[in-house]
Amino acid sequence: MPRREFIKETAVLGATAGLAPALLGAETGPEGKVRVGYIGCGNVSGSYLPNLTAQPFIEVVSVCDIKPERARKRAEQFKVPNVYPNIDELLAGAPFDLLVNTTSMPSHYPVNKKALLAKRHVWSEKPMALEVAQGKELLALAKRNGVHFWAAPTCVTSPQFKFMAETMASGKIGKVTAAHGAYGHGGPGWSGWFYQKGGGSLYDLGVYNVTTFTGLLGPVQEVVGMTSILNPTRKVEDLGEVRVEADENTMLIMRHANGLLSHVQTGFVYFDGEYLPGEKRRLYTIDITGTKGAMHLQGWDWGPSGVDVAFQGEAALETFCKEPGKYNWVGGATYVAECLLTGKTSLITPEHALHVLEVMNACHESQRTGRRVKVESTFKWPLFV
Ligand SMILES: NC(=O)c1ccc[n+]([C@@H]2O[C@H](COP(=O)([O-])OP(=O)(O)OC[C@H]3O[C@@H](n4cnc5c(N)ncnc54)[C@H](O)[C@@H]3O)[C@@H](O)[C@H]2O)c1
Repeated sequence: MPRREFIKETAVLGATAGLAPALLGAETGPEGKVRVGYIGCGNVSGSYLPNLTAQPFIEVVSVCDIKPERARKRAEQFKVPNVYPNIDELLAGAPFDLLVNTTSMPSHYPVNKKALLAKRHVWSEKPMALEVAQGKELLALAKRNGVHFWAAPTCVTSPQFKFMAETMASGKIGKVTAAHGAYGHGGPGWSGWFYQKGGGSLYDLGVYNVTTFTGLLGPVQEVVGMTSILNPTRKVEDLGEVRVEADENTMLIMRHANGLLSHVQTGFVYFDGEYLPGEKRRLYTIDITGTKGAMHLQGWDWGPSGVDVAFQGEAALETFCKEPGKYNWVGGATYVAECLLTGKTSLITPEHALHVLEVMNACHESQRTGRRVKVESTFKWPLFV
């Protein structure tokens, strides 16, 4: 079947299954490629754009940034034909199907909203919005306009995540009772927004562990959190000295169903690096404890390099699942573009991302009020059936 016909077929199938329609064949670029409009040409675009432009089924048609010299530089570097200085001109310019949004976190919601209103599919960096009400609004808007909306991170698509989910389901480490995650470094030095209102270590870093734990252990019912600021000011490249307003040292405890508890610590006040001197393997960042064993993830959960498993009664840790396969931490937009083209069901869902946002906001609310906070949203779980 010619590719364009296949895309039309999958769009119809998606619609009849009650899902938002996949890409409409008539709207795709030459040879049924997904046309991407890219917005936010800062630090991470240097990793996203090589990945996107290397895919035979993706055409990056436009780049955009409110600092237009950044967009021009990326256009030159990756041979992108159209450059725009804001979202309105991007949407009104060369046609595209999927918006890839890697702007600063406070810009996610307004940019995502404009793109969804203009009936574009959207891949957004995390978090999808700063407030749960905004996130809900975006999900409803996508549904109403018959387009797809996804938000990073991509860690549930790694082979190591799948391995951990399957090991838990197999019962080999018994009943899972508790989990611990840690992700932090010294903090980004290039942009001030990371430390201002709407930034912070939880939205930027802790979000990975919260996504991993909700993905593995199921939706969260309640949260207790504490955050602190250790540096009154920071020096950053774009703004010079900024006042630190957002959390830079964060702890949250999550209650999942059946008494299962997990804990995430994250911060911009940790040492940098994934190795200790003399260590050959990356540090563990995720620990899952069961009644008959334990699992430890080597490396950050967005870039894992193996899972060490200890079974009760056995003396040694055994390392499994060392290879990344096709997984790439900046491959989320590519992954969803493939879902759009083939009709494949995405493991990354907006409902899960919204739940993660609610958990993170519950942590901030717990810090503000000194109370534990209930979480109402949920998502389809388990991810693998
Ligand atoms: N840098 C990383 O290693 C990394 C890794 C994973 C995820 N992320 C996420 O990617 C996003 C961007 O991070 P970054 O480090 O590239 O930040 P950055 O500050 O380097 O870049 C953000 C860019 O977005 C532009 N921008 C902001 N608002 C805009 C708007 N309304 N319209 C158009 N352009 C706008 C800014 O001018 C800037 O060039 C964040 O959500 C971050 O959490 C970053």
